[in-house]
Amino acid sequence: MRILSFIFLGIWLTACQPEDPMSSLTETSYAWQLPAGFPAPIESPDHPTTVERVALGKRLFYDAILSEDLSLSCASCHLPEKAFAHDVPISPGVHGRLGLRNSPTLTNVGYVPRLNKDGGVPKLDIQSLVPISDVNEMNLTMDEAIARLNADADYRSEFQRAYGTDASLYNIPRALAAFMRTLISGGSPYDRFTQGDQTALSPAAQRGMELFFSERLACGSCHSGFNFSNETFVNNGLHLDYGQDPGRQRVTIDSADIGSFRVPTLRNVALTAPYMHDGSLADLEAVIAHYNQGGQGHPLQDERVRPLGLNAAEQRDLITFLEALTDTAFVNNTNFR
Ligand code: HEC
Ligand code: HEC
Repeated sequence: MRILSFIFLGIWLTACQPEDPMSSLTETSYAWQLPAGFPAPIESPDHPTTVERVALGKRLFYDAILSEDLSLSCASCHLPEKAFAHDVPISPGVHGRLGLRNSPTLTNVGYVPRLNKDGGVPKLDIQSLVPISDVNEMNLTMDEAIARLNADADYRSEFQRAYGTDASLYNIPRALAAFMRTLISGGSPYDRFTQGDQTALSPAAQRGMELFFSERLACGSCHSGFNFSNETFVNNGLHLDYGQDPGRQRVTIDSADIGSFRVPTLRNVALTAPYMHDGSLADLEAVIAHYNQGGQGHPLQDERVRPLGLNAAEQRDLITFLEALTDTAFVNNTNFR
């Protein structure tokens, strides 16, 4: 039964290949190089990652052609040297317009099941439609994006190679997603330590690691697993009043979700200041002070955020541990630039 359905699937897939004899579709499958303990990134069955799609997505990522006035590319707010985050609280979009949220890292974004800080986007494959058309980001209609790309002979042939068709609403965000899925980081000193290199972490970083994963601090109960996130949405007590940005509540319309945001990865976190959904904490010292004080005491604050009583040396050790999550090979990887 199973074999039969594979045969039918095979016929169906072949039947779906473009019939255009001029098509130059080339599908070189992408060879994932996954760090130890990492699963494969989340891919849609209808959109396998190929070398051609990744290359096209990379070109689009760095090209200001996707912004209204040709002033911004994705990389204007997601800087490779900042682990694809940005060093300002709120990144200006076209005409200097400001949104509400801090530009997040794209480290390991191919593993995130629900995108954006409120989880409002269900798939990386379509996420880019948001920044391209958002009035506070690139402010370009998708019709205009498609027209611009298809007016460019080079892009047209690159789309033909990657998808067997011209640029479209379907393939533009998917090419960008293909590139972003390759932004995999698992080569920090912490990783080398867990793989048996006792010298990879200083004694201070090791003390910080113990604190981080201790029951007393419980950082590791939210920032858990290979990507330091359990992918839940919680209120970590950042504010007493979440003002214009209630976070997850914007998606669920459930008042119990006010102030809940997705638990972010902490990989490369030392490179991604300022912190939190609105960039309101300037550095890691401020983050640790926030948790040590037990948050602001918002009524919906998660009970694991509570006064910790960390002394100054413990706070320094925790920061030293967070700094050991920096993967310099990732940041310097020329495949990503
Ligand atoms: C003006 C700055 C800006 C530009 C330009 C921009 N982004 Fe973003 N990006 C953001 C902000 C801010 C968020 C957080 C949005 C939210 O949580 O609602 C974000 C979120 C994302 C996310 C979700 C990450 C996560 O962890 O949930 C992805 C993926 C992403 N951007 C990719 C892109 C791509 C691809 C482009 C280019 C087409 C782009 N961005 C252009 C600022 C920008
Ligand atoms: C109850 C779950 C929870 C616990 C426990 C927790 N965090 Fe967080 N953490 C979050 C959430 C949610 C955010 C994002 C909040 C936002 O965007 O406003 C966050 C954000 C952060 C950030 C900022 C990341 C960024 O990119 O902006 C750091 C650093 C951090 N936490 C470290 C820690 C440390 C260290 C501990 C332990 C002392 C800890 N967290 C405990 C849920 C938690």
